[in-house]
Amino acid sequence: MTIELKQQTAVVSTIDEMRKISESFQGQTIGLVPTMGYLHEGHLRLVKQSLKKCHHTVVSIFVNSKQFGPQEDLDIYPKNLSGDIEKLESLSVDVVFNPKEQAIYPEGFKTYVKVDEITKHLCGKSRPQFFKGVATVVLKLFNIVCPQHAFFGEKDWQQLAVIETMVRDLNMDVKIHRVPLIREPDGIAMSSRNSNLSSGERKQALSLSRSLKDSKEKVKQGIISSKELRQNIKKIISAEPEVQIDYISICDPISLEEKVIVKGRTLIALAVKIGLTRLIDNCIIED
Ligand code: PAJ
Repeated sequence: MTIELKQQTAVVSTIDEMRKISESFQGQTIGLVPTMGYLHEGHLRLVKQSLKKCHHTVVSIFVNSKQFGPQEDLDIYPKNLSGDIEKLESLSVDVVFNPKEQAIYPEGFKTYVKVDEITKHLCGKSRPQFFKGVATVVLKLFNIVCPQHAFFGEKDWQQLAVIETMVRDLNMDVKIHRVPLIREPDGIAMSSRNSNLSSGERKQALSLSRSLKDSKEKVKQGIISSKELRQNIKKIISAEPEVQIDYISICDPISLEEKVIVKGRTLIALAVKIGLTRLIDNCIIED
């Protein structure tokens, strides 16, 4: 009989302590999974990939104020630190890094990372501050944790594209790993924000994944006009009284430029608001 000894998970909140632990991992690989907490299976897939790939795994939990606009849901963003720690402990994650706002953004903080071009599309249009906040915090986390590998989900397709671009353009020595989007059994994309939906809103939110599935079918049947596909998605989602469409994009998965027809690999990405809750979803159509 073999007894597996579970290693202890360290929970750290200061940058100094985090740096010291990373230094102590010298010569071995560190995988970082940046999150804003309220962890679900989508997050845990990223963590499991890191555990498989790297000697040590660090999961950061930090609700990054700089990526929220003034009218957005920062104040009601769901939190459950003890529950998150429990989940990460049960996976034997090495470190949970949970810094305070003041540690990441002390008085006088002035430096931001701005990625051009791809941030003009999709979420960047309606959330002009968003990617500047994301790129800045991710760069800071890379500088603090010093990982060789970092894991991000394709649920946030544009975020991944922004981070890959930043890493390439700034010659950062971190390998970015893409993890596929994870859905609930009924099709809704897993998201911490789903917990802010009422049961009625949640039912209406299913129209996103339904419309994506329907689009895939339509393309299979030979409908490749983006205009027609967009109208069809709009019809499905607009049938839900409380869902407000932000965008429906049918675009190139790398440049994120809109496509007139679905030819070659294509991304369909959606963003909606249901009450105060913003939801996104996407799918790839392989030609
Ligand atoms: P958060 O929304 O907590 O997501 C953390 C990571 O989990 C991201 O890489 C995201 O794409 C991934 N993820 C979330 N839901 C997923 C799902 N259903 N399937 C697959 N992956 C999923 O994204 C952020 O936090 C923040 O912007 C962050 C990168 C931490 C910077 O603040």
